[in-house]
Amino acid sequence: MFILLFILHFLQFIQAENCSDCVNSGKVWCVDTSQCGAANSSCTTTVNVPLNCPSFPEYGYDDEFIRSEIMVLTTAAQNENPQLCFNNQLPTMKLYQIRTVNCSTKYNDVTCVGYTSYDTKKKVISMSFKGAHGQDQIKEMTEHMMKYGLESYYTVTDGKIFKALQDYFMLLWNGGMYQDLKNLKYKYPKYELWVNGHSLGSSLAWAASAWIVNIGMYKPEEMKVVVMGAMRISDYNWAAWHTKTFPYNFHILHRSDPVAHQSTYVKATNSTLFYPKTEVWYNNYMNQGDPYEVCQEADGKYCSGSVNPNATQYIDHLYYFNIDLPGWGHAGCPMNISAYAQP
Ligand SMILES: *[C@@H]1O[C@H](CO)[C@@H](O)[C@H](O)[C@H]1NC(C)=O
Ligand SMILES: *[C@@H]1O[C@H](CO)[C@@H](O)[C@H](O)[C@H]1NC(C)=O
Ligand SMILES: *[C@@H]1O[C@H](CO)[C@@H](O)[C@H](O)[C@H]1NC(C)=O
Ligand SMILES: *[C@@H]1O[C@H](CO)[C@@H](O)[C@H](O)[C@H]1NC(C)=O
Ligand SMILES: *[C@@H]1O[C@H](CO)[C@@H](O)[C@H](O)[C@H]1NC(C)=O
Ligand SMILES: *[C@@H]1O[C@H](CO)[C@@H](O)[C@H](O)[C@H]1NC(C)=O
Repeated sequence: MFILLFILHFLQFIQAENCSDCVNSGKVWCVDTSQCGAANSSCTTTVNVPLNCPSFPEYGYDDEFIRSEIMVLTTAAQNENPQLCFNNQLPTMKLYQIRTVNCSTKYNDVTCVGYTSYDTKKKVISMSFKGAHGQDQIKEMTEHMMKYGLESYYTVTDGKIFKALQDYFMLLWNGGMYQDLKNLKYKYPKYELWVNGHSLGSSLAWAASAWIVNIGMYKPEEMKVVVMGAMRISDYNWAAWHTKTFPYNFHILHRSDPVAHQSTYVKATNSTLFYPKTEVWYNNYMNQGDPYEVCQEADGKYCSGSVNPNATQYIDHLYYFNIDLPGWGHAGCPMNISAYAQP
């Protein structure tokens, strides 16, 4: 009897040799030893949900491309005239439309901002979203998110995102961005679509990417989704769907950016928040040539999640690629970036 149990145990062990099989069968995967079983002290990195099973993204991460192009597109949303940033940094990029909507029913100084642009040389259409600006917007977001929690909006996934963020995105979408993108796609049907943002802009970019695919306007393979300093906006199922849907999909996190350490539980809808598997973590100033980690897991004590949540610094949320993102944007993205470096 003892021997039979031993053999059965051994067989089980052999069968559960890969991480997803292991966690799907309710066990814990040990990354250090690549073995399935119970967690113990000899294992520092364990996985208990399939999305955290180690794997690399489909596309390689190109620091230079993100730094020199996506960073500019994202920062340009900070300026009332994003074209000023293009003139200095991306001379072939042209602003199409900037849209500003009232996105609060309570505060009179809260707006959501996004713009579309296009580049006939690179054959690209881009959609970028601005981050939160001002204390009232932070209050409005927090209240709205905590009050209504998460909801499901899609036919392509049963996953859920914050109602507040879907509402803000829809105000912008119906406030002109849908028509702008339709016009651009009609004129340039073969162009790639880039969707990007920072902070609240990241959340809106993630919502936009999902919505555009949900309505069948673009195929995920025609898109590049890149966000910076994003908070968790969804449940596990949405995160898993977003991860498997978009082949080019990165979320850049700077050192101890506190947005990665906010509470992951939402009481209103009894939801646990989860990141997609898209993280690229820079544990430094993000200067040119600095190392980064393309995270093999989605969400947990990995990469930026390994930072002590008590040791986060808000300033790491504002500086990306060692540039003061709001400050550089307001100034029109001048050539001399060293004047905007992190102190
Ligand atoms: C794990 O095994 C399952 C089938 O047993 C297979 O479908 C899956 O692709 C494997 N995953 C990896 C990452 O090898
Ligand atoms: C810890 O678990 C691993 C498998 O994950 C196993 O190989 C090892 O023997 C275990 N160590 C102890 C002390 O139980
Ligand atoms: C936005 O709309 C609300 C009413 O829904 C109003 O109280 C507020 O003043 C408006 N804000 C702006 C900037 O127009
Ligand atoms: C919250 O959800 C969990 C499963 O995710 C469930 O076990 C629990 O009963 C739920 N709690 C409430 C109050 O609905
Ligand atoms: C963070 O600070 C709190 C309160 O001081 C403490 O209870 C907790 O253990 C700290 N966490 C870590 C990971 O050090
Ligand atoms: C760039 O800015 C720095 C800091 O303000 C300044 O010291 C430097 O002289 C400037 N470089 C150029 C070429 O203007």
